[in-house]
Amino acid sequence: MQQKREQWGSRWGFILAAMGSAVGLGNIWRFSYAMGEGGGSAFLIIYLVSVLVIGFPVMLIEFSIGRRTQTDAVDAFKKLAPKSGWLVAGGLGVLAAFLILSFYGVIGGWSLRYMFEYMTGGITGDPQDFFVGFISDPASPVFWQFVFMALTVGIVFLGVQKGIELSSKVMMPVLSILLIGLAAYSLTLGGAEEAFAFMFQPDWDAFTDPSVYISAMGQAFFTLSLGMGAMLTYASYLDPEERLTSSAAIIIVLDTLFALVSGLVIFPALFAFGLDPSEGAGLVFMVLPNIFEALGGIGTLAGVVFFVLLSMAALSSAISLLEVAVAYFMRRLNASRKAMTLVVGLVIFLLGVPSSLSQGAMDITILGDSFLDFMDAFTGNLVLPLGGLIMVLFVGWTWTKKEILDHGDVADQSWGPLYVLTAKFVAPVAILLVLIIGMINW
Ligand code: TRP
Repeated sequence: MQQKREQWGSRWGFILAAMGSAVGLGNIWRFSYAMGEGGGSAFLIIYLVSVLVIGFPVMLIEFSIGRRTQTDAVDAFKKLAPKSGWLVAGGLGVLAAFLILSFYGVIGGWSLRYMFEYMTGGITGDPQDFFVGFISDPASPVFWQFVFMALTVGIVFLGVQKGIELSSKVMMPVLSILLIGLAAYSLTLGGAEEAFAFMFQPDWDAFTDPSVYISAMGQAFFTLSLGMGAMLTYASYLDPEERLTSSAAIIIVLDTLFALVSGLVIFPALFAFGLDPSEGAGLVFMVLPNIFEALGGIGTLAGVVFFVLLSMAALSSAISLLEVAVAYFMRRLNASRKAMTLVVGLVIFLLGVPSSLSQGAMDITILGDSFLDFMDAFTGNLVLPLGGLIMVLFVGWTWTKKEILDHGDVADQSWGPLYVLTAKFVAPVAILLVLIIGMINW
């Protein structure tokens, strides 16, 4: 028997949930370390161009497919193009949900541990030693990863309206306030000038480094939750009458602002203490505690606020990753949401254990990177752009011009023809070019 499919309670519920998906570890943890490694402003410029030229059309395309078909990422392609190969995009998406959430849960767990640590008085001793000691322990990070995944499962278990929508409505406003407060405070620490120069003064040399292009485009996909059907799945819970373009614009602008303001939290503080921005994936965990410690009591409070922020942002994103897989298996196996959430959540937790162990407890590396770093770069810089490429090609080349315009709600917009042109040519060529450059320089 088919149950009635769930829907969002309101348009703002959808926007906040999609924003919750977009705003996450990607904006704070990943953005800051990728920008730190990518030379600052050069990375930022390529990332902003990617968001505009690729991110916006791909998001609108995922929204169009989801709202039009009212079903999960795999079935959507089956409905629109029966017996064709396009559903590989959906299959890749479900697979990516498993891969991304497996390591995302590990970092989410780190964040929870730090939150707990600051709530109970802060980190004592050298922050770097503390971090390395923690992540190379075989048990403790796995425990916190489990706690994080349990929270994620708990929300998705409650369903689209009572779980995802309600939690996003609470978390997103809180996040925004915490972030702005922290940025205002960080800018007073004395590193503001250097941070502005690092973030906004173009360093032309960095543009000649091909790896910056792939990491900046990968970042655009990752931070906007694109390329694997997460936005498609969320849009499938929309009433078909709901409009899309303004929602996409709001989500993209706010997600980008969130990343920029996170940069204004992290870099001024970092430069104020003379620390190194190219610290890599441990950046926010190794660098920020130095600062919190040096600031005494108020620093402990800032630490609590920061890690509450990071944990909530991670959680509202993790639920969208889990939802892609849960929505697929619910329909496919005709099973209940509750059962599928528990099973899929458990499998993803187990898949994440090697990522967690690869941080020092065991020597698990692929192509010279730790298992976790490899999963992060492989999914973000390769799987997501590839998924996005297939989706734009699908819409750009199998839908008529009228369908592209109508299902994206752009028929009456002056930039409609530009959107069609972007979907057909500009976005696919841009993604392909960067992917090729990235493969050559892997
Ligand atoms: N966008 C989230 C972040 O920035 C991560 C995320 C959630 C995601 N859902 C996704 C990334 C789907 C890719 C695809 O942290």
